[in-house]
Order: sequence, then C-alpha cells, then structure tokens
Amino acid sequence: MNKAFATVLKLNNLFGYLPMEVDQIVTVVVKEMKQLFPTYCCRFFLLEGVTFSFQAQWCFLSQPRKNLCQEALNSRQCPALRDGFPVIVNLSDGAHDCAYLMTEKAIQKYLCLPVKVDQKIIAVLSIASAEPGVFTLEEQEVILAIANLTGLAIQRSRLIARLQKEKQQLEEANREINQLNKTLVERYEELKRFERLLIQSEKMAAIGQLAAGLAHEINNPASIILARLECMLSELQNGLQPELSSLIKDLQVIGKHARRITTTTQSLLSFARRSTETFLPVDLNEVVEGALSLLGKQLEKGRIQLQKHLDCKLPFIYGNPNQLQQVLINLLQNARDAIIQEGTIKVSTRSSVSGWVEIEVSDTGVGIAPENLERIFDPFFTTKEVGKGTGLGLFVTRGIIENHGGRIEVNSQPGQGATFIVTLPAAGTRSGQEPSKPTVSSPH
Ligand SMILES: Nc1ncnc2c1ncn2[C@@H]1O[C@H](COP(=O)(O)OP(=O)(O)OP(=O)(O)O)[C@@H](O)[C@H]1O
Ligand SMILES: [Mg+2]
Repeated sequence: MNKAFATVLKLNNLFGYLPMEVDQIVTVVVKEMKQLFPTYCCRFFLLEGVTFSFQAQWCFLSQPRKNLCQEALNSRQCPALRDGFPVIVNLSDGAHDCAYLMTEKAIQKYLCLPVKVDQKIIAVLSIASAEPGVFTLEEQEVILAIANLTGLAIQRSRLIARLQKEKQQLEEANREINQLNKTLVERYEELKRFERLLIQSEKMAAIGQLAAGLAHEINNPASIILARLECMLSELQNGLQPELSSLIKDLQVIGKHARRITTTTQSLLSFARRSTETFLPVDLNEVVEGALSLLGKQLEKGRIQLQKHLDCKLPFIYGNPNQLQQVLINLLQNARDAIIQEGTIKVSTRSSVSGWVEIEVSDTGVGIAPENLERIFDPFFTTKEVGKGTGLGLFVTRGIIENHGGRIEVNSQPGQGATFIVTLPAAGTRSGQEPSKPTVSSPH
C-alpha cells in the first residue's frame, strides 16, 4: 500500500476510535508527517480565542523562526490566513508575499495550509523544504487530507471537552439541587414539628381557658345553691319556721342555678361527643327548616320578621344532621337575642365557589362591638346577663363546623346587625359522586 495512503488511513482510524486531547492530536500529526516527509519541516499553529499559538514542529532548520510565522498569523498578515486558501510557494518561481519566507532563506518550497472546520479556520499547518523543486500533486492531496482529518479531530476533541465540562457543571448543579432539596425537606420537617408544637400549646391554652371558664361557670351557681341551702338548714336547725313564700323563693333560686349547671355541662357534653358521631349525606335546606320549626314559637313573637332564601339546587354535604341543626339553632337564637324590639332575621343557603356551600344567618339587631368580635367564639364569653347565656353557643358552633371541614365568619358593626356565614365542603368534592338521598333526623 502507498505509504501516504497508509498514513491517512492510520490517522483516520486513530482519531475515529481513540478520543484524544488537542495537543495529543497535534503531536501525532506532526510525528506522522515527519515519517512521511522526513526531509520537510512541519509546523502547527492552533487558533485559541483570537490568537494563534505554536503547537508542535519538527524542523531541519537549525534556528526555526517560529515567532515570525506566529506574528504574521496573529497580525493576520499571513497570506494563507488572509485569503483562506492554501499557499504554495516554489522559491524558484519568484513572487510571494510571505514575510517568513523572506527571512528564511534556506527554504526552497513552502506550503501553508489553513485548517478549516465548518468554513472557519481553526489552525494553520505549514510545510517547508530546503530541496528545490515543487510539491507533487499527490503530496499536496495527502497534506490536505491530513489537515482536514486533523481539523475534524480537533473539533471533535473540543466538543467532547465542552460536553464533559457541561456534564460536570450539570452534575455539580444536580448535587447542589439535591443538597438544597435535602435542606428544604429538613426545614419542612422542622416547620411541621414547630407547627405540631404550636397546635399542642394552643390546644393546651384552649383547654386551660375552657377549664377556667368551666370552673367559674359551675362554681358561681354552685356557691349560690350552697349559700341558700346553708341558710335554710341553719334556720331549720335553730328551730326557726321560715315563711313558705321565702322558702319557695329560695328553692326557685336553687333550681335556677342548678339548671344553669346542667345547661353548661350538657353543652360541653355535646361538644365532646361531636367527633364520635357518624356522617351522612345531608340536605342543609332540611336542616334549616328543622331548626326553624324547632325555634318557631320563640321567633314568632310578632316583633321578628323571618326571611328564608333557600337554594333549591343546593348540593348535599357530608355531616351530622343533629350537630348541624345545633349550629343553626345557636345562630338563630343569637340573632333573636340581638333584636331588642323589632327586626328581621334572614336565613339563606347557596352554592359558593365550586365545591362549597354557604349558610348565612343575618339579623338587624344590636350588632357586635369591635373589641368583642375576636372574643365571641371563646368559651364562656357572653354579654348576656347572668343566667341568660353560657357563652358556649358560638364556641360549640365553631367546633362543629371545623369538625365538618368548614369555617365560620362574622361581619358586624354596633347598631348595624350581624351576619354569620358558614362555609362547608359539598359532598361531591369529597366522594367525587352525587350522594344518595339524605336522611335527616326529624326535629319534631
Ligand atoms: N347575632 C348576634 N348579634 C350580636 N351579638 C352576638 C350575636 N351572636 C353572638 N353575639 C355575641 O357573642 C356572644 C357569645 O355568643 P354565644 O352564642 O357563644 O354565647 P351566648 O349567646 O352569650 O350564650 P348561649 O349561646 O349559651 O346562650 C354573645 O353573648 C353576644 O355578645
Ligand atoms: Mg348563643
């Protein structure tokens, strides 16, 4: 096989199968050129950024003036670079404008080749010879083939290097993201822990508040009962005959306060039981009707006008009908109590934003003072006179609503009445299906 052809084949196979660094490629090329053209001088300049740098050479010249060539390249004076075509000079032919050749008198023939990839010059290969004569066509073709192969190999090596760098950067970024993710999960866990602690401490505070209120609510009537009993007992022990009317009065007071204790404990019992009762599909309109018919007589005193706006297409909700009726009764009783003389109570039901239903109870009563707005849901907060309200109505109401996955809001200003809005999740949003016909316990 022709030696030149074998060299081109060898380089092709080498570059194809063995990924090499750019300087390795250049060294291999220059070495192969030396074997192929032992009497020629071969040099290689690589473009990095905007400057050409000398990479490798083998040279018969004792003092190679590589700098001259490099300067010509970097000042873009080199004819091969300037025109983008190979420059072949046979000194015997005469004219050329290569500054390097003008100083390097030993050179007889010269070939300067721009190495191109995608129309861009990435390197310059120069071959010089001290022998007179011309480069044969075969020599020119072999050198061109080697230059092209070298260009492709360099390009490929640079692409691989870039890909590797990008891969490393991606891996680094990935590691950072994983680390951030880990930190995020840790923070989230920490937050959850704090949240649990907060809920726990809020619960403890609520229990404390409830216990304090309960002690007060039970102690007060209990001490009145005890005082009356002791008084009656000491009169009897001292042989005194109390008047029947005063005896009846005392017993009435005792009864009133004993009932107060019972009401308080019953409210709390219904509150405690609320989470154990079963949930069914419920039609809130029926719940409203049930509560209204239970309270009917209390509301129809002529002084209160009742308005009902019930949405006949209201979706069902999942809940406990008895507890929900308790909610309506509490709100309606409060509305009734807020109307001193005459007024209106409005009850309406409607679907709100998708998946939620609302019940609104509004009145034209005395309204709520701003400083009380935040306290009305606290256990035992009441503005009603002693014996009239336990202050547990709204506390129990909110507990029931939250237990149903809903919320309660209030809007009120003194003298302008009050509006309570209860929002509950529709049954469709929980089951994804229409529930079957609801069953509501009869209020009668
Ligand atoms: N519709 C309303 N208009 C004006 N004030 C209201 C209204 N609803 C509630 N309030 C205020 O909120 C307080 C707390 O209400 P809540 O129902 O918890 O207890 P209560 O009605 O006082 O007692 P109970 O419900 O045991 O009879 C009431 O005392 C009252 O001051
Ligand atoms: Mg109440």
